[in-house]
This record gives sequence, structure tokens and C-alpha cells, in this order.
Amino acid sequence: MENPYTPGSTSPAYLSGRGQELAVIDELAARVRSLGRPGGPLLAFYGPRGTGKTSLLRRAQAEAHKSKMFTVWVTGRGDASMIETLAKSLNRAVSTAELGDKARGLLHRIDQVQVEFGVPGAKVGAQFVGTTKAADVVHDLLEDSARFARNHEHHGLMLFVDEFQDATVEDRKSLLIALQEFDGDSIRPTPVGIVSAGLPSIHGAITEAATFGERTRFVEVKGLTPAAVAEALRLPAEGVGVRWDDRAIAAAVEIASTYPFKVQVVGSCTWNFARPGAGSVITEGHVRGATDEIEDRMDDLYRTRWAAASPAHRRFLVAMADGGGDTASRENIADGIGVSTNALSRPRDELIARGLIASGGRGQLTFTIPGFGSYIRRREGRE
Ligand SMILES: Nc1ncnc2c1ncn2[C@@H]1O[C@H](COP(=O)(O)OP(=O)(O)OP(=O)(O)O)[C@@H](O)[C@H]1O
Ligand SMILES: [Mg+2]
Repeated sequence: MENPYTPGSTSPAYLSGRGQELAVIDELAARVRSLGRPGGPLLAFYGPRGTGKTSLLRRAQAEAHKSKMFTVWVTGRGDASMIETLAKSLNRAVSTAELGDKARGLLHRIDQVQVEFGVPGAKVGAQFVGTTKAADVVHDLLEDSARFARNHEHHGLMLFVDEFQDATVEDRKSLLIALQEFDGDSIRPTPVGIVSAGLPSIHGAITEAATFGERTRFVEVKGLTPAAVAEALRLPAEGVGVRWDDRAIAAAVEIASTYPFKVQVVGSCTWNFARPGAGSVITEGHVRGATDEIEDRMDDLYRTRWAAASPAHRRFLVAMADGGGDTASRENIADGIGVSTNALSRPRDELIARGLIASGGRGQLTFTIPGFGSYIRRREGRE
């Protein structure tokens, strides 16, 4: 039987424990849908790597699409302007709506933008005069498409921006300015909403782009509760007639910690070990039997994260891992590197912004990927 778990895929078979987050997005979408008005200030989900931000946005996009809205998806990149992908994605949204000749004018305008901004190899911002023009283009594209949608059997437009912190500052500015203008225009409402996601550094990325970016609504995407982990494991199996017994679930919840990526790894590896058929039961023995494969899969993730860390960050991470778990105090880390706790602030803030560690309160810092500490101890020969 096909394995129903999805390590690495942004559309898990069952998106567990995200009811509140989806409700927050729907509040915004409902203003667009039901009132034909802008969705309000930017909504920004943030959290460390692997907590399920992209999966959350993908699900919200699917729902918006189902409820008859145009949906557009862009991913922030530092090396290319967003306008071309925005235009491409808009083109797709309009084309797939099958509005025939009625859409011709709008598609033509979108094409023009693509031609103007899609010059291959063009440097970021090189073809704009300052940033004003880029902002105008983004504003007009969104406004035209959203109003067109509203007039043609759709409710409006939802734009999803993933990895917002990586977008160029011009792009971030353009989006925030556009939202601000839509929000201020009560005479001709533009039915558009923007939902973004990114690493904790999204806070700085937004305020850097526009002072009024402070009006953004920030929502943290946290790890899953034990009950949500249990559902994430049970429901995809039940869908194909396979049951986890309670002890298997307890063991798996413990191993997965609260980390969505690891939940999928645990589910997937246990499934491969158990090779269940319809009517089978997954037991604790299956979970234990899958331990090595689970660790191998997680090691791949740790390795990538480690490879991307600078020497200064690695020193910090090693000192942190030396605490013996996934959590360490600032004092102990400072002692480990041999610096004062003040000198610690910079690498700490950078590692938090990159989503590798998080503050655990009371001067404690913790690895955001469970088991990262143990991986570092193993590779440094400290275990
Ligand atoms: N609510 C959830 N329930 C079950 N599995 C989930 C959930 N959210 C995410 N996952 C799984 O967790 C993994 C990571 O999800 P995703 O890529 O969405 O995280 P992310 O926060 O966008 O990570 P990154 O910061 O690296 O982009 C995927 O394998 C996905 O299938
Ligand atoms: Mg993501």
C-alpha cells in the first residue's frame, strides 16, 4: 500500500492542528469574499524552519481557490524581482478561470508587464527608475486583477507570499505600499488580501521595508501539540484502513517531539518498516524498528542546516549542544565559547532570525529542530 506520509511535501495528507491559523486567514479572506473589500494589513506567519508555514499557506490557497477567488503564489527571492513571477502566477489564475474573451484585455496587460520585467538576466531593479515604478506596477496588477475577478464570477484575489524575508526590499516595499493604498481607498474598494509567511526575521524584513509595516498582524506558527501529532499520524493511515495502537502512538509522539517535519518522517519510516495492509495495526515494535531509518532521515536535515552555518554560528551551536540536550543557558554557552554573555547577542540574534534556535525564556535557548543538539555532539565526537 502507498505510504500516506509526506516528509518534505508541502501538502500533507492531513494538515493537523492548524484550525486557529486557518481561521485567522479566513477572517481576512472573508472581508474580501463577503464585503468585496481589501483584507486589511499584511498577515504574516512566522516560525523556524520546518514548522509547516508553507503547508499552511498552500492549504489556505486551496481553500481560497475553492471558494471562487483568484489565488496567486510568489516566493521571496533575493536575486530576482517578484514582479515577473507575480505576473506569471496571475496569468495562470486568470487563464484557468476560463473566462474566454472577457479576460483578453487583462491578460494582455499582464503580458506587457511580463515582457517589460521578465528580461532574462536583468539585474534586480536595473530596469526601473527608482522603486516608484515597481511599486506602481505591483499596485496596478493587483488592483486590476482583483476588480476583474470581482466582476467576473469570482470574489476577489488572494496573494500568498512565502519566504517573505527573502524578497528584495523593493518587492517588500511595493507590497506594503499597495496594501496601504488599498486600505485607504474606501470609495473604490479593491477586493485583495495578502498572506505571507517566513522565518522569524520576517519582523525585521517588514519594518525595514516600510515604517507602517508595523501594522502587520504577526502570527507565530508553533510546533504541534501531542494531540495534533497523534492525529497527523492516525488519520492518513485510517484513510486506507490501517490503525495505530495507543502504545505505538505514544512512542511516535515522543520521538517526533512537536516538529511537523519529524512527524512525517516518523510516520513514513514506521510505515515502511511495518508494511501494513488494509486492516493491519501498527504497533510500538514497528515504531522502534524504524528508529534507525528515522535517525538517518533526520541526519540529512541536520547536515544541510550545519553546512549552511558560518564558523561563528557553528562555535555557538557546538557550545549550545555541549549542554547535553536541545536546550542550554546563555551563561553556559558563553562559558563554552569563552566570551562574555554580551558578546553572545549577535550570533544568538542571527541564529534566531534564521530559525535555527529559539528563545526558551529565562535566558534559555533551544534548538528548533529536535535532536539537532545530539547530531552536533555526534559529529563533534562528544558523545
Ligand atoms: N499541520 C501539519 N500536520 C502534519 N504535517 C505537517 C503539518 N505542517 C507541516 N507538515 C509537514 O512538515 C514538513 C514541513 O512543512 P513545511 O515545508 O510546510 O514547513 P515550513 O515551515 O514551510 O518549512 P521551511 O521554513 O523550511 O520552509 C512537511 O513534510 C509537511 O508535510
Ligand atoms: Mg516553507
